[in-house]
Amino acid sequence: MAGPLILAVETSCDETAIALVEGGRRIHSNVVASQVALHAASGGIVPEVAARAHLRWIVPVLDDALADAGVGVGDVDAIGVTNGPGLAGSLLVGINFAKTLAYVHRRPLVGVNHLEGHLYAAWLLDPDEPEREAPRFPLVALIVSGGHTFLVEMRDHLEYRLLGETADDAAGEAFDKVGRLLGLGYPGGPAIERAASAANRHDAVFPRAWLGDSYDFSFSGLKTAARRIVGEARLALGLPPGADTPPLPPAEVAELAWGFQASVVDVLATKTIRAAGRLGARSIVLGGGVAANTALRARLTADARALGVPLVIPRPGLCTDNGAMIGAAAHRRLAAGEQAGLELDARPSLPLVVR
Ligand code: KG4
Ligand code: ZN
Repeated sequence: MAGPLILAVETSCDETAIALVEGGRRIHSNVVASQVALHAASGGIVPEVAARAHLRWIVPVLDDALADAGVGVGDVDAIGVTNGPGLAGSLLVGINFAKTLAYVHRRPLVGVNHLEGHLYAAWLLDPDEPEREAPRFPLVALIVSGGHTFLVEMRDHLEYRLLGETADDAAGEAFDKVGRLLGLGYPGGPAIERAASAANRHDAVFPRAWLGDSYDFSFSGLKTAARRIVGEARLALGLPPGADTPPLPPAEVAELAWGFQASVVDVLATKTIRAAGRLGARSIVLGGGVAANTALRARLTADARALGVPLVIPRPGLCTDNGAMIGAAAHRRLAAGEQAGLELDARPSLPLVVR
């Protein structure tokens, strides 16, 4: 084995996830029980419903993760668990589960920041994937999820300097809200991506909030503009402007989805590439649910190549919430000598870095 085998537990939001990761890189198993179908009916996550589903699924998910890896809990060297940020009730299920496993099996336990997990997903290797060089420092990382959007510089492991963050909505939140506005359902990100890929015309113009030369982001103006543009499109077709039924014709939805996505991608990519160039980054890392977006991946791939800096984007399944990313970050925390006791508690607003 190339390092300790870590059992990692992630329940911060609406995925019950457990993985086994060796040496902070090699995935042995990575089981994710998604609650998307459960929350789709309400158009968003209901915290109590999410916590109850975690309780229901966490034991079967552990059984599957151990079976997939062909090991028992006794073979595990340490246990990592997300302790924030996230929904309090959801976090508590994973934390208490991990604490109990660590106590009963006498294994070290470490708490992991969920955002740090998204970042460390860039280090992961799938079970059969050939060895590949890890991201190099200094690096610039863009983390774009449903709750967070930020750009950080890392000069070494676990060292973060915040370059910029969102002043209002997270990128994923903007996708989800505009998805709803376009009648595309929950979650909006994948739905907007699908709709946008069907667009025949690429004329829709949505604003971009550059915020001068700063590395900060703002998506609330874009959301307001989207509401206005959708309203105007509905009015032009004789549909009630404030409602979402009857829906706009699919061709119209596709073009507006494309225009919105193009705006978000443009701002995210431009600021990331600018930071990487100015700071002399030796790699660029992308993570978080929105990093699953094909248009964002393609744009950053082209821009990073032009800049001559290697880009690491985990495959889409490792960008959205999973346990393996928590295993990768837990490994680093344990290697740095960190260990949590039974007092480890949920920190719903845990920051990655304080500016
Ligand atoms: O990282 P994540 O799974 O959970 C959080 O930590 O928030 O991110 C979920 C977010 C949601 O807002 C979802 O709409 C967005 O990621 N997302 C996407 C795509 N897949 C997921 N956004 C754009 N394009 C996608 N393909
Ligand atoms: Zn996440």
